Amino acid sequence: MKTMDELELVTLDDAAAAVHKTAHNIRDYIQRGRIAKYDAQGNRVSRAPNGGLRVSLVELRAFMARMAQGNAQHHRAGFHLELGFYDVPEWQRTKHVHRLHPYLGKFIPQLVEWFLARYFKAGDVILDPFMGSGTTLVQGNELKMATIGLDISEFNCRIARVKTRKYDLEHARREILETERCVMGFSQQLARGADAEVQALAASLVAECHSEYLKTWFAPRALYEMLYYRRLIPQHEYQDLLRVVLSRAVRSSRLIPHYDLATPKAPLPVGQEYWCRKHARMCRPIEECAVKIHAYSEDTARRLEQFDQLRSDEPVTIIQGDSRTVNLRGELESTPLAGRAIDGIFTSPPYVGQIDYHDQHIYAYELFGIARNDPLEIGPKRRGKSRQAQADYVADISSVFRNMLPALRADAKIFVVANDRFNLYPEIARRSGLQIVEEFHRAVTKRTEQGNDPYQETIFMMVKQCP
Ligand SMILES: C[S@@+](CC[C@H](N)C(=O)[O-])C[C@H]1O[C@@H](n2cnc3c(N)ncnc32)[C@H](O)[C@@H]1O
Repeated sequence: MKTMDELELVTLDDAAAAVHKTAHNIRDYIQRGRIAKYDAQGNRVSRAPNGGLRVSLVELRAFMARMAQGNAQHHRAGFHLELGFYDVPEWQRTKHVHRLHPYLGKFIPQLVEWFLARYFKAGDVILDPFMGSGTTLVQGNELKMATIGLDISEFNCRIARVKTRKYDLEHARREILETERCVMGFSQQLARGADAEVQALAASLVAECHSEYLKTWFAPRALYEMLYYRRLIPQHEYQDLLRVVLSRAVRSSRLIPHYDLATPKAPLPVGQEYWCRKHARMCRPIEECAVKIHAYSEDTARRLEQFDQLRSDEPVTIIQGDSRTVNLRGELESTPLAGRAIDGIFTSPPYVGQIDYHDQHIYAYELFGIARNDPLEIGPKRRGKSRQAQADYVADISSVFRNMLPALRADAKIFVVANDRFNLYPEIARRSGLQIVEEFHRAVTKRTEQGNDPYQETIFMMVKQCP
């Protein structure tokens, strides 16, 4: 073990000054586990007392050297250095409403911002036919552009609507905190050892639950709390906002290892100890939901307020449907965008065989009884990456572009973010009547900082082919 002197322990501010970064950057490196936390006595800690947090300059410099090496490697590999967003800390990557709900496969807002700001102007109309959680819509709105999002998954549409709608902020805050207060009260009653009345209430909640998934993946107390919250939602105006708060809490309340929130395999038994890679100690799966509701309630209200300071009044239109077949012009007829030509697309389609987009939010579909459209998902994980899956993918993505193009201006610019490891996009462009005019190769930053081989995404810039 290194001594305190060998570690060169310093405060965050001193560390930041020493390597010409900000204290936010240093916190970000800690959060991502790139450098360790110490207390003032040189002990490695998971939490340091107020004002007592130290980091090791030796570790920090070693990490910075690895990162510089990674950047140089990326530069040699032809990656666009500005598009690596190497220095954008976690809190900016997940700024304001972008962190209202987790979503596997979303792109970082800075990437969208970079392209929209360079290739479009305020007042333009931007379409994302694979909207996901709505990153393009939020960033387009910030840049005073009208936005349209399409997605096959109803829950994704709800997340995007919750992020982009305009709120009476005081009222929204009141509804979130009032619902939280009621659930916390119920949770305390449960903790005290339920009397007959509370037991009857818990039994009536479970009687309303017809989902085997919910009964299997949550401890009884977590289940009571989430069902109690769900019962309160219809009393409020901003119901989907409350559903998003609850869903985020529910996702973190499953009986799963703390490190495995994104792709859990199976529920653990209640109380079962396991070695937790995230916390580097033995942990037990969570048994409550109220604690997460508490963590996310104030956070949600604050994030809505932050976005409200930045947002514009440009229209945001969200359409749930299959982008291959949806009648876009028809859908827009009853909106402020009726008859307007679309200036461009910024989108990241699903990649072949990577993610099952409905399944990643199974807990929300089960809890809110939302209808699923899994069979209409393009390129889902469950269909794999075989040659047949790739051929289907090419046909499906091409149908989407062919369906969208009539609504686009003749000189529209189309940006598609893809990890095109099977080199399918030249054929997709050809079949869609598009021409690839430029390719931007981007390294995916988090891996860079680990010093791994570059992992890349391509942003294809395309235009309509002349008839
Ligand atoms: C890579 S994600 C987009 C993520 C988004 N860029 C973000 O930041 O949240 C791809 C999206 O395509 C949607 N999708 C898949 N098949 C679709 C289809 N046939 N029509 C419309 N959307 C579809 C999925 O539901 C998923 O949300």
